Amino acid sequence: MKILFLNGPNLNLLGLREPDKYGNNTLQDIEAFIRKEALKLNIEVEFYQSNIEGEIVNKIQAAKGNFDAIVMNPAAYTHTSVAIRDAILAVQVPTVEIHISNIHTREEFRKISLTAPACIGQITGFGINSYKLGLIAAFDYLKG
Ligand code: DQA
Repeated sequence: MKILFLNGPNLNLLGLREPDKYGNNTLQDIEAFIRKEALKLNIEVEFYQSNIEGEIVNKIQAAKGNFDAIVMNPAAYTHTSVAIRDAILAVQVPTVEIHISNIHTREEFRKISLTAPACIGQITGFGINSYKLGLIAAFDYLKG
């Protein structure tokens, strides 16, 4: 089983960026944490981060046939990107949307996700555990 972890804009700054909302772990810390969890479940994982919408679209398109599922934190593109939503719908690779913070308790504009309706479901507000829960959700979905 192969799962792609996709991370959107500014998540490369985790650890430095608004730690009150996103915690002190870097994206590298999260990747190390997920690699350990994935090993236990015998899942192969790849991590990809981009600040550029089109690169995320390209990565979703390239996931077809190469990954069994995607766990995606689209970050700010969650609230704006028709292109990412359409890419998921186009490739039909099962995708779990995750967020570190609870987007439903924050500003009004964050409560809307354009990408979640293209996903199996959304996990939001569990800190870096959202990544682990996303891994488990994708794994259980694929196991059936
Ligand atoms: C985020 C929430 C988004 O609203 C925000 O733009 C992010 C991070 C989260 O993980 O909590 O960059 O996706």
